[in-house]
This record gives sequence, C-alpha cells and structure tokens, in this order.
Amino acid sequence: VTTPVTDTLKRPLRDLRISVTDRCNFRCVYCMPKEVFGRDFAFMPKDQLLTFEEITRLARIAMDHGVRKIRLTGGEPLLRKGIEDLVAMLAALRTPEGEPPDLAMTTNGSALAQKAQALKAAGLDRVTVSLDSLDDSVFQAMNDVAYPVAKVLHALDAAEEAGLGPVKVNMVVKRGLNDHSIVDMARHFRGTPFILRFIEYMDVGSSNGWKMDQVVPSAEIMERINKVFPVEPLEANYRGETSQRWRYVDGQGEIGAISSVTRAFCSGCTRARLSADGKLFTCLFATAGTDLRELLRGGATDQELANALAALWGARTDRYSELRSANTPGLRKKIEMSYIGG
Ligand code: GTP
Ligand code: 5AD
Ligand code: SF4
Ligand code: SF4
Repeated sequence: VTTPVTDTLKRPLRDLRISVTDRCNFRCVYCMPKEVFGRDFAFMPKDQLLTFEEITRLARIAMDHGVRKIRLTGGEPLLRKGIEDLVAMLAALRTPEGEPPDLAMTTNGSALAQKAQALKAAGLDRVTVSLDSLDDSVFQAMNDVAYPVAKVLHALDAAEEAGLGPVKVNMVVKRGLNDHSIVDMARHFRGTPFILRFIEYMDVGSSNGWKMDQVVPSAEIMERINKVFPVEPLEANYRGETSQRWRYVDGQGEIGAISSVTRAFCSGCTRARLSADGKLFTCLFATAGTDLRELLRGGATDQELANALAALWGARTDRYSELRSANTPGLRKKIEMSYIGG
C-alpha cells in the first residue's frame, strides 16, 4: 500500500524526525540542564536503541504513507556510532514516485568538521547547526561545557564546503541570557550563505523551568534587527514551514524566525517524531508515544506496521502550541527535547 494518510485536522504526514540517540556532549541550559542530566542520569542502554535496519524499515513504511522529508536529530545525532551508514541507508529509500527523501540533520556541530565530507558522500542533503551567541562567555554559559564559538564557526564552514548547504544556523533566544546577541548574530551572518534562524525559547520538557517572560517574541527580534538592517518578509517555502522567512532589503541574504510560542504553526504541522528507542510521537509536546519497537521486535509484518502508523496518524488531534496560547500552561508532564529530538 502506498496511501498518504491525513489526521483529524486534515494534515498530511510529510516529515519524519528521527532521534538517533538521547545523549549529547553539551548541557544547554534550556535543553539538558546539568541539575537534571548530571553524572548519574540514566541514558538509554544500547539494546534499547533502534538499529539502523529498524529505523530504515520504519522510514521506508513512512515514506509509503507520505513522508518526503527526514531529519536526523538527537540528543546529538553525530554521537551515534556509524551514523554515516544510517544516512546511506535512508538516502537509498525512494518515495512511491521514485524520489529520494529530502535528508537533513540538526546538530550542535561539535563533530561536524570531522564528518561533513563523509556525511555528504553518504547522501545527506543539508544540516542545521545550533549556535546561540558569538560571544564566548554567553555561548559557554548556555552550552555549559565550555564549548567555544570558534569551533562551531569552523564546523559551519566545513559543512558549507562539503556541500551540505544551504546551512541553517539555529539560535534559541532566551531573554536576559543571549538576547543582546541578536543583532551581532545577524551582522555576522549577513552576506554569507548561512541562513540564521531565531527560535523562541519553548516550554519543552519538564526540566527547563520555562516562563513566558523569558521568551523574546519573534516580532520583537525582527524589530530589533530591522532598526539596524532593514528586512522584508519572504513567502514560505512550503505549507507548515516552522520558520517565517525574511530578507535583508539590501540583498545581503535571508533570515528566519521560528515563533512556536507567539505564532503557533500547528495548523500546518505535518511532523511525526521517532525517539531513539522506537516510540512514535505525533507532537513535540506529546505526553506519550506509541511503541513501534515492540511491534518490530515482535515480528510484525510491513502491513501491520503500516496499519499501526496509519491508525496513529489518522487519530492525531495534536495542536499543543495553539492550545498553550489559549490557556495558561498547566503542570503537565512533558517529554524532554533531547529524548524526542528538536
Ligand atoms: P527545515 O524547514 O527543513 O529547515 O526544518 P525545520 O525548521 O523543521 O527543522 P529544525 O530542526 O531546524 O527546527 C528548528 C526548531 O524549530 C526546532 O529545534 C524546534 O525548536 C522548532 N520546531 C521544529 N518543529 C517543531 C514543531 O513541530 N513544533 C514546535 N512547537 N516547534 C518545532
Ligand atoms: N526551546 C526552543 N528550542 C529548543 N531547542 C532545544 N531546546 C529548546 C527550547 N527549550 C532547539 C535547539 C536546537 C534543536 C535541537 O532544538 O536550539 O536547534
Ligand atoms: Fe545538546 Fe542540542 Fe540539547 Fe544543546 S540543544 S543540549 S546541543 S541536544
Ligand atoms: Fe506540531 Fe505539536 Fe509543534 Fe503544534 S505543538 S507545531 S502540533 S509538534
């Protein structure tokens, strides 16, 4: 069967975000704070992780049902041993029309300079790299492992050189922490091939102590930039794009704003997320996933897996960010970003 599925809000399944590990060598304060992810935090044992064969099998079935874009995430995806092999296996998949998937990765960049060429050769199309400031004291306070800015900048160049572009740079903006780096970041990446995107700090996970007053609304971010470097809006690349795109009026390139808090984009959300241990989540804020590993290891046929996927997506009602805007956030348990992927 090669039937595209749509959910209860008529949203098709288009993107699959695959977390390949829950581990990370950074301890970003908004994602894996040391108080929670300390020395004795229990990460997933290896036998709980889906194998590359299992991931590829699920991805193939998902592509039969409408998935066109696959993004590898983590934790930090480059920490997963042999990740190039998984990239090659996914790049060899085809849609029912015979097209390869659009294959991307979100990474902190720490192993990217070393792996960019191999990833490209294996079939990775593009990467998105996180960088929250150009100021070392700010960036190191955010990654909390003393990782220097210069190394991320070097990784960005290596990725661009390897042909993994257009390389996007994600900056999570948290008020009082790195919001004074907004204009510096814009200035630095203007006139380069890199597409800088500002992300509103979100209430993901139960560990980041999120409060609305720590969010800098995208409108304010763009206003601060517009005062120095005038910008004008661009059309979305596709329906349900997370980022609102802008261009510098003087032709110095593109930037974006991901307003998951102030301008929810649930109505066009076509993303499913697979955790490293094989649970499928239909929302970044879902409280529970569906265990596909159990099916895989229990000997399910392709048809049975396809049915499970279709049933799950068909019943999907998620629109957390839209509902958050309508309600005051409760004390609901949430899934960590490092577990489910960004
Ligand atoms: P491209 O448009 O292909 O570049 O991908 P993307 O923007 O979906 O991927 P990326 O991993 O760069 O996403 C950027 C950030 O947007 C993530 O780290 C999240 O913070 C946020 N984000 C992505 N998808 C969702 C989503 O479905 N819901 C919410 N609330 N936030 C999301
Ligand atoms: N709010 C917004 N974005 C986040 N990310 C991680 N935690 C948060 C959060 N609380 C983003 C990172 C990276 C991706 C993996 O997820 O910036 O781009
Ligand atoms: Fe690691 Fe990315 Fe989370 Fe930072 S945001 S701790 S780099 S997974
Ligand atoms: Fe999609 Fe859930 Fe994010 Fe809304 S909150 S855009 S439904 S992942």
